[in-house]
Amino acid sequence: MCGIIGYTGAEEAENIIVDALEVLEYRGYDSAGIAVCEADGGIEVRKCAGRVKDLRSLCQGKRSRGTCGIGHTRWATHGGVSDANAHPHKFENVAVVHNGIIENYRDLIRRYHLEDRLQSQTDSEVAAAVLAHFYNGDPLAAIRKAVLKLKGTFALSILFEDIPGVIFAVRNVSPIVIARAREGSMLASDVTVLGQYAKEYFVLPEFYVAVLKKEDIELYDMSGEAAAPEWLTVNWDVDRSSKGGYPFYMEKEIMEQPQVIKETIMPRIREGIPDLSADGIPDSLLLECKRICLVACGTAMHAGLVGKALMQSLVRIHMDVELASEFMYSDAIVDEETLVIAISQSGETIDTLEAVKHAKKNGARTLAVVNVRGASVARVSDYVIYTNAGPEIAVASTKAYTTQLAVLYLLIGRMAYIRGSFGEKEAREFAKELTRVPDVMQQVLDRREEIHYIARSILNARDVFMIGRGLDYSILLEGSLKLKEISYIHSEAYASGELKHGTIALITEDTPVVAVVTQSKVQSKEFSNIKEVQSRGAGVILFMKETFSLEREAVWDSIFKLPAMEDGFMVMPASAALQLLAYYVSLDKGLDVDKPRNLAKVVTVE
Ligand code: G6P
Repeated sequence: MCGIIGYTGAEEAENIIVDALEVLEYRGYDSAGIAVCEADGGIEVRKCAGRVKDLRSLCQGKRSRGTCGIGHTRWATHGGVSDANAHPHKFENVAVVHNGIIENYRDLIRRYHLEDRLQSQTDSEVAAAVLAHFYNGDPLAAIRKAVLKLKGTFALSILFEDIPGVIFAVRNVSPIVIARAREGSMLASDVTVLGQYAKEYFVLPEFYVAVLKKEDIELYDMSGEAAAPEWLTVNWDVDRSSKGGYPFYMEKEIMEQPQVIKETIMPRIREGIPDLSADGIPDSLLLECKRICLVACGTAMHAGLVGKALMQSLVRIHMDVELASEFMYSDAIVDEETLVIAISQSGETIDTLEAVKHAKKNGARTLAVVNVRGASVARVSDYVIYTNAGPEIAVASTKAYTTQLAVLYLLIGRMAYIRGSFGEKEAREFAKELTRVPDVMQQVLDRREEIHYIARSILNARDVFMIGRGLDYSILLEGSLKLKEISYIHSEAYASGELKHGTIALITEDTPVVAVVTQSKVQSKEFSNIKEVQSRGAGVILFMKETFSLEREAVWDSIFKLPAMEDGFMVMPASAALQLLAYYVSLDKGLDVDKPRNLAKVVTVE
């Protein structure tokens, strides 16, 4: 979390930085700020609590003409949301923007006698103060000495007042990417924003110092030796970073799903059979493992739960799904015979990153499913399969989730085939059904106004329950997360067979219930559970596979019939329907759909 940007070059820095911060707002949006080396000397800092648009207004009052600066958009960790806690932090002649957490900031305050000298409650200002403490005209020496004192994670972008026109950067865990762009040099917390300006970039290696100048970029290791960057190609469709005429990114990203799923699936089906060889995934990796452990957070973890249900039933291999944030502390059983799959849209979620490192230490082989090319989780894993979702800007994940599912289907299809659970005919049929997903999802999206109408019935609800069994329950966990995160309605997904063991006490006639019924083997049980909540007065919104039949006497508040696929694939049309439900509730409540309160898209703190 927290977005970082820096520019030094021939153009005025302020506009470039503020525009870039707007793109980076998905990393945090509770305050924003900018520091610019002024043409006549000195560093001008402007910052405020609020959105980047508030910073823009603040800057308009006093335009800066400087051509070198750094900017930050914040997701508060240490210290509340206030002007003083916004970055950049300037301490004596050093200005800093920071992403991460300095864990030993209290010790540093004591050690360097900073108690009465800080303006903010942040750990980040402490980092600026430690840098200033060591700075006596040699910036590289000061950075080297300071980072040795910092414990925790950090991406730091630094200006020294007496070295105008130069940006220094150093990091541990939290990412920084660097590029030549706009007649100068740029750095950012991720490639999404740099992709608009540059064709090539490199990831700043941990504990290396980058020196960005108008003319070039230098890189040094901790002993002061010059190093060569490892350049990567920007593989990011910039068009997909714009709203393309939709009111919110979320709607645009929902609507893009048929296309990006097609782009994720089609190159990986060869001669009718799932094939991951172009991604460098050897069949031996999938053959030799005795069990699978999937680690992920949030929506990506929900994709993992769907994967687990299908993997166990189709491949007959034991699979666990672990919350990455719990994985290291849960004594999970991973060893040389375990394939650890890490799923992450951003590839920067620190919990997931640390889980992969932990798995590797325990001898497991690791496979990342990541959307952002070259991201940290992809780099530390032994193997990677990229989802081709393109930039996902809305905080609520939609197309990243369904492309993650698409990759899991491919993996399952390939594993079932090479491990003998599928014969050739079944492998082909499985792949063929997968290729139908984009069209079937499109059918749901074409009927979005029906879901918009249904959404009105829960606009004023305080609580919503979502019920289903088996795969339907897994789908609803994600559907419920979508609704709560963008509409602020309390929503819980429940395995409907479990309702009677407690939660049914909360069902009243004021509690709308969303039910999903798409699985033949549990549909009769699901309908019985639906009757149980109807008997307590709850109105039920039903999403049902169109080929299932309804009892005539049942009364429904609303029904949406989902286009039919094989049961294992119903996740896809059902997910699109639930995404639209959450979207329209948030839209009609007049909320900021793309930037829900308290959240950030990329979470780089543990
Ligand atoms: C944040 C986002 C979620 C996302 C989760 C994991 O909490 O708000 O939408 O699912 O992080 O992110 P990742 O990038 O690892 O998929």
